[in-house]
Amino acid sequence: MLGNPVQRYSRGAILLHWLIALALAAEIAIGFGMPHDASGFELFQFHKSLGITILALTVLRIVWRLTHKTPPALEGGFNGLLAKAVHVLLYVFMLGAPLTGWAIVSTDELNVPTVLYGLVPWPHLPLPGSINPAMKEVHELLAFMGLALFVLHVAGALRHHVMLRDGLLARMAPRGSAGAAMALLAATVVLGGGVFLSLPGNGDHADEGEENASEIVLAVEDAGGEDAVEGEAAAEDAGASEEDEVAEEAAAEETVAEEEPADEPVAAGPPPSWDIQPGGSLTFTVDNGGSAINGSFRRWDGSITMDPENPAGSNIAITIELASASLGDATQDQMLQGAEFFSTAAFPTATYRSTSVERTGANSYRATGTLSLKGVSRPQTITFTLSGSGARRSVSGNATIDRNAFSVGTGESAAGLAGSVRVQFAFDATR
Ligand code: HEM
Ligand code: HEM
Repeated sequence: MLGNPVQRYSRGAILLHWLIALALAAEIAIGFGMPHDASGFELFQFHKSLGITILALTVLRIVWRLTHKTPPALEGGFNGLLAKAVHVLLYVFMLGAPLTGWAIVSTDELNVPTVLYGLVPWPHLPLPGSINPAMKEVHELLAFMGLALFVLHVAGALRHHVMLRDGLLARMAPRGSAGAAMALLAATVVLGGGVFLSLPGNGDHADEGEENASEIVLAVEDAGGEDAVEGEAAAEDAGASEEDEVAEEAAAEETVAEEEPADEPVAAGPPPSWDIQPGGSLTFTVDNGGSAINGSFRRWDGSITMDPENPAGSNIAITIELASASLGDATQDQMLQGAEFFSTAAFPTATYRSTSVERTGANSYRATGTLSLKGVSRPQTITFTLSGSGARRSVSGNATIDRNAFSVGTGESAAGLAGSVRVQFAFDATR
């Protein structure tokens, strides 16, 4: 660093700069690394929550910038202009990426509600569904643009630090320590790379599984919370050993590790499992040219793990024996087993697996998951209520199923059948 002190960014600007940088590193890694099927549901919900957090921090950052002094540019000419352009485009990315993400989920056919960190319901934007594909393209494009800008931005900062030695790095560093900025740079890269590699299917650490990924992910969430100041303090400590690059890298990793406390609600232990008691019912109703057709399944079973007070970690798996479907008439039941309906010889069972369960009222819940029926797997929502208390509960609920999506009822005999089938269930479960 030069002898004469260079004007610095304000403390708030520095804090927000690094919080957003760390959060973005994890967010991009999750975006590119998350599985795009039902198994990635939880991670995808977290992607939305963290993305909206980044949007809020960016808005705060811009308000802060407009109301606080920014140090004068250190360099003019082409390089000065380039730096300015990269900064402006970084702001475009920081606002554009979350806004297009928000637009995607607001216009998606599935209409999955957004509940930030499973706690705060977040509204959807009133936008037409037709823009959904374009928003997806732009969202992905902005993420690539963000990565490119990051490389340019860091290259510029390092050029100042290593070649020009003009103290620019220290302007954006906690306590004005360039070493702290280097440690935070390392933390950003380690966090982004680490999150990406720990997601299922992305590299050597894939076998460590999702749990590991969510631990790292939760560390970032913490960085966005009260621990932020701690993070800065850790980085300042790292700055003390400015000469020792290796120590700095280690410190940077420590910064990440220190933001990984176990006091998140996720660590609450496995939810209790419940046994479905005999005597329950699973029925279905479908309109047939104005009159209702009612049927039921005689054989079905499942396993349920769920804490009614804290349903986030629940798991519901139901298996239905399709040959047990009955309309109360032997001929019609035979027909249900045929190729036009369930095709039970080829597909003896249907299964439902939840990916998430959320509470919608005092005793009511909504499960999101996947229904596999007749060789097709699709997202399916189920709503249900619980009554009773303690180790025995009564469960009742329903779902509306689009039978055409599963090719159930394809021939002449189904000509008058409505497309949506109402499924109802009621059973007792004991712990
Ligand atoms: C995704 C990550 C990052 C984003 C989005 C980002 C964004 C920005 C933005 C928008 C500015 C302009 C501040 C303003 O004038 O309002 C800025 C400044 C700065 N950033 Fe970053 N940054 C990131 C990562 C980094 C990293 C890793 C480093 C360290 C190598 C760094 C070093 C700096 C420095 C030194 C400045 C001040 C430049 C000056 O004094 O003119 N940034 N950053
Ligand atoms: C700074 C914030 C964000 C960044 C950097 C980011 C980045 C990414 C990336 C890299 C992908 C993968 C792109 C692909 O492979 O197609 C992605 C996908 C996605 N993100 Fe984000 N995201 C951000 C915020 C959000 C927010 C706030 C939401 C919603 C509230 C969101 C919703 C989505 C959705 C729905 C997809 C999947 C799109 C698809 O199916 O093609 N993102 N994001």
